[in-house]
Amino acid sequence: MCGIVGAVAQRDVSPILLEGLKRLEYRGYDSAGLAVIDENDVVQRIRVLGKVNQLQQEHEASPLSGGTGIAHTRWATHGKPSVNNAHPHICRDEIALVHNGIIENHESLREQQRSAGFEFTSETDTEVIVNGIYQAIQTNPDILEAVFQTISQLNGAYALGVINKADPKRLIAVRKGSPLVIGVGIGEYFIASDVFALLPVTQRFIFLEEGDVADIKRDKLTIYDKDRNIVDRPINVSELNADVADKAGYRHYMLKEIFSQPDAISESLKSRIEDGKIVINEFGQNADSIFTRVKAVKIVACGTSYHAGLIAANWIEEIANISCHVEIASEFRYRKSVVTDNTLFVCISQSGETADTLAALQKAKEEKYLGTLAICNVAESTITREAELVFLTHAGPEIGVASTKAFTTQLVALFLLVVAIGRNNGLSLEDENGYVKQLESLPGRVNQLLLHKDEIEVMAKSFADKHHALFLGRGNFLPVAMEGALKLKEISYIHAEAYAAGELKHGPLALVDKDMPVIAVAPNNHLLEKLKSNLQEVQAREGKLFIFADKNSEVEATDNVRVLNISAVYDFMAPILYTIPLQLLAYYVAVIKGADIDQPRNLAKSVTVE
Ligand code: G6P
Repeated sequence: MCGIVGAVAQRDVSPILLEGLKRLEYRGYDSAGLAVIDENDVVQRIRVLGKVNQLQQEHEASPLSGGTGIAHTRWATHGKPSVNNAHPHICRDEIALVHNGIIENHESLREQQRSAGFEFTSETDTEVIVNGIYQAIQTNPDILEAVFQTISQLNGAYALGVINKADPKRLIAVRKGSPLVIGVGIGEYFIASDVFALLPVTQRFIFLEEGDVADIKRDKLTIYDKDRNIVDRPINVSELNADVADKAGYRHYMLKEIFSQPDAISESLKSRIEDGKIVINEFGQNADSIFTRVKAVKIVACGTSYHAGLIAANWIEEIANISCHVEIASEFRYRKSVVTDNTLFVCISQSGETADTLAALQKAKEEKYLGTLAICNVAESTITREAELVFLTHAGPEIGVASTKAFTTQLVALFLLVVAIGRNNGLSLEDENGYVKQLESLPGRVNQLLLHKDEIEVMAKSFADKHHALFLGRGNFLPVAMEGALKLKEISYIHAEAYAAGELKHGPLALVDKDMPVIAVAPNNHLLEKLKSNLQEVQAREGKLFIFADKNSEVEATDNVRVLNISAVYDFMAPILYTIPLQLLAYYVAVIKGADIDQPRNLAKSVTVE
């Protein structure tokens, strides 16, 4: 992943770079650095192990100043988080470079460069790029040529920002496989991994395309496409707001985001429903003509978004009567799969930048899908630009790395899709009105669930000394259990697994003893009695049960069985509702454990490497 920022301006760019990095920290936060070319044309650099705050402190203690600069916040791929592995990387005080992506052939390049006398100061795959540019510049002093020559030898993904001491008012940017935008100022230009990083300095952006190389000077921008033709890329005016979300008095962004779900859901429904019916055009201009022909759906996503896809698949088969298959993007992209006629491809992504999901979408565009639809929370993201149809969740910026409001709003979007498709597959207007009512009841019902916060905080204490947890669910509550387990492991570092309750006896039951908490999602549905039998199997092995149930589920509490009767009545919205207490449980366990909740170790919000 990693976030990169760069600038060429008349003014000192270091505050712009630091502010940009703060805004990109969701992409990685294990180390950070910045380099500027100062007034004496010397490349100056600061790097720290840790977050951008630490870089800011270092910068305050010994400020750098210069009109041309690049900066980076890192999520380690090659080489542990350390100062030496942090970017920018510099070769012989001449060339400085920041990189987001992975160079797959770095080992062979490293060998060649070692034989040519280069010494390596880091364990990164990036250092071969900066050395390569330095090497190339020895035969042709033009930095642009040197960059072209170097990237022709790279395999992998790379967004790059390159500055050169010998040409101090110039910045070269490259986009291949990792996102990069150019911010257009007045007599100044910027680059960044996303638009948000640059909103304090400009609203005007050029989205580089795959393989583009930009030669950036204060007063002149030239963009080359992958074949080295000069191209004109349009300037887009962003409608995004520069304000950074604050915690609004909550202790963490994650808690704020959990509590903002009623609003996020309302916003995501707004203008999507009229007179009890779904507004199909909200999915895009051609949605109607595509939806009338859909005979199957393929959903592809990663992480939490994948769990949303699993829930949607059950809805699609049950409500819209058409088959649906869900796949993890990193698997789908490398697998030969059979596309049946009239299959709609749906990818789900909060960020719209996840490398595997983007690659899956690109693959789908080349195959015989009926159409491609992206469900996404970020309007100006790569995935929204690439998909044919787009449905935006209006959850607002999600800052906490563990996804909460993005997930529940994705489910809202997917339910709208299910009904929209179902309309052409036998769903009556009366049914549609009924489903719309269920959707509209959601914000109020989620609010009710949030009232259980104190009880869940008490329950969380039982997990403080645990190292493992098992989550159980059946039917559409298996993906809910999977999401609950993912939340717990992401932020509290407790090893948590989810199983279909019926699978318990086929293996995981061997793990159950008095030290293994088992969390079960038990709505009052047709599977409740089956689930209760599975829970008996846990009780018989002295497992400690924590059951989330409806008031009507009639699950009894005992010494080893804690029951939280939540104010939910079973209907199609129940997977969304049952997610809320599991989010709260993970959150409070992580609070007790003193974990870094909004930025858990080793993770990042937007995963732009595969
Ligand atoms: C990362 C995030 C998760 C997210 C996943 C997919 O792992 O930490 O919260 O679910 O990426 O991200 P996307 O933006 O594609 O939904």
